[in-house]
Amino acid sequence: MTPRLLHLDASARPGSYSRQMSQAFVDSFTEMRPDTAILRCDLNASPPPFVDEGFLQHAFLPRDQQDSPALAASNGYTRDFLDADVVVVGMPMYNWGVPAIVKAWIDQIVRAGLTFSMSAEGIEGLAQPDKQVFSLVSRNGGFLPGEPYAPVNFQDAHFAGIMGFMGIRQTRLEALQDTFDPGTVDQNLARALANVRKLAQEAATRLG
Ligand SMILES: Cc1cc2nc3c(=O)[nH]c(=O)nc-3n(C[C@H](O)[C@H](O)[C@H](O)COP(=O)(O)O)c2cc1C
Repeated sequence: MTPRLLHLDASARPGSYSRQMSQAFVDSFTEMRPDTAILRCDLNASPPPFVDEGFLQHAFLPRDQQDSPALAASNGYTRDFLDADVVVVGMPMYNWGVPAIVKAWIDQIVRAGLTFSMSAEGIEGLAQPDKQVFSLVSRNGGFLPGEPYAPVNFQDAHFAGIMGFMGIRQTRLEALQDTFDPGTVDQNLARALANVRKLAQEAATRLG
């Protein structure tokens, strides 16, 4: 089976830390699985639309009526997400949370009847539970559990929570922190890249 890897980036900085992390993941993964089909999605180069009136008018209709041009972007993003065996997101933290373009992407793929369902029995995620999702994050710092800014880390729990809402069993995180500290950033980046490569190798091994 050809593995399908969806590679997203969100930093506004070319050559950014989080872009280096996601690229390291893709490079290591494809080293082990050269047959991988990579779908590239640079959210910064091509930002997703926001939820608008057309989206709302069509996204909650029965599935066979969701082919509207108003949902063309959302249908595309959702299909790409659902089709992927591995999803890698490189993103900075912006103002304590995910960048707005990542939030816009989330809003496009959380789709009733496609990635989640709601019924009398409750909410059910419809994405494949064993889809491997990786959040590769860069930020200045102090946001990990036990650190001073952990209470205002609205990035990691939000992203992993939304993935869980869509049925993903586990979202794996690698966070590069202290990126404003010129004394340690190179060393920390090297460590983060090594961790990312390990995550990629484990992901390729898990795919079998
Ligand atoms: C608009 C903006 C908001 C930011 N907000 C935060 C923040 O809330 N917390 C933090 O630690 N760093 C924050 N930063 C710093 C970036 O997260 C940090 O520089 C990160 O390493 C950038 O990742 P990149 O190199 O992938 O672009 C912010 C940077 C920008 C440009």
